[in-house]
Amino acid sequence: MLKSALDCDEISVSYCTKIFVVAGARPNFMKVSPLFPELLRHPERFLPRLIHTGQHYDAEMSDVFFKELGLPLPDRSLGVGSGTHAEQTAKVMIEFEKACLEDEPDLVVVVGDVNSTLACAITAKKLCIRVAHVEAGLRSRDWTMPEEINCIVTDAVSDFLFTPSRDADRNLLQEGVAPERIHFVGNVMIDCLLTLLPKAAERNNPAAFGVEAGRYAILTLHRPSNVDDPDVFDGILDVLAELSQTLPIIWPIHPRSRKNLERFGLLGKIDNCAGLKLTAPIRYLDMLALNRQARLIITDSGGLQEEATVLRVPCVTLRHNTERPVTIEAGCNQLAGNEPEKIRAAIYSVLDGKGREIHPPELWDGHAAERIVDTLLAVYS
Ligand code: UD1
Repeated sequence: MLKSALDCDEISVSYCTKIFVVAGARPNFMKVSPLFPELLRHPERFLPRLIHTGQHYDAEMSDVFFKELGLPLPDRSLGVGSGTHAEQTAKVMIEFEKACLEDEPDLVVVVGDVNSTLACAITAKKLCIRVAHVEAGLRSRDWTMPEEINCIVTDAVSDFLFTPSRDADRNLLQEGVAPERIHFVGNVMIDCLLTLLPKAAERNNPAAFGVEAGRYAILTLHRPSNVDDPDVFDGILDVLAELSQTLPIIWPIHPRSRKNLERFGLLGKIDNCAGLKLTAPIRYLDMLALNRQARLIITDSGGLQEEATVLRVPCVTLRHNTERPVTIEAGCNQLAGNEPEKIRAAIYSVLDGKGREIHPPELWDGHAAERIVDTLLAVYS
């Protein structure tokens, strides 16, 4: 039942707690996939409903992930699609509000830092529905990144802040968040990775790309700061073209980056590099199989920095900052910004064998979803 504003602080419910679990963009699916079945394991207590906002909608950005991760079809698909940040956020809010008014959830669980996360958190909070944020407290301190704004605002309105690392707890405490709202549970995306790793290990994906295990790099690139400026994108491509002459690079390309390659007339540059192997977005298991045997991961994604750390594959991040400093402390990740010289130096420091030993962070152990559900069970008794 939807509570009125007056009842907002009542937490105990005597009926099955209806929970909307929201997924919108590709990195959300891996975070929801361990959590949703964990909630389903308590049918007497929880009634989880999967809501797909449709922020990512291409079959290869969305549908294949649902299938492979064993997620059920969404109970509701909001079908919002792409747009400017304001358009996309607004569309999710409008559609999500309708869903909340119709179905009256008691709790909304949002994950990560994408526009759908922010939009659903604000919408729920304004309807006096409790909000749980999974992957709370991450801060890059870079306000030019939409994800930073999304995470800060989502944290500000969330009742339960489930954090993946101790630095996230510290960030929230420094911002004045009451300690009882913060729950250090570990990394739910690593739950997904560890569950599917044995399956991925059965695959020999490097051979499918004509490369040998341990003798190729994986590349992902989609941040506006790297791919929306033609000069920056061109400079990055120069380093990659050079590297690909000695170390083949497999590049599953994000729709935004592909569109910009075409728009900026940069496709010709890639055509001339036999070692730079462009491919459509790769499904989760294949990507995991490729990541685990890579010599090096080059990325601007948040999740891949974490996956590299657990797989103990050195990572070079093409950003000036990261909201995941634990991956650097773990000995896996280096920040290289987006200037060619810095990227080159970081890459060759790895290839020259100057890497450190990698130690994955505390509680990245495959049980984060259980800890989240245990916390909710204790509250919704
Ligand atoms: C979003 C997230 C980012 C996350 C990334 C993972 C925000 C602010 N950004 O960025 O944090 O790392 O997802 O992929 O939420 N497009 C398609 N097909 C799709 C989806 C997108 O062609 O299925 C194209 C559209 O042209 C769209 C563009 O990609 O305008 C960007 O998509 P959008 O969801 O706005 O942001 P991402 O760059 O994917």
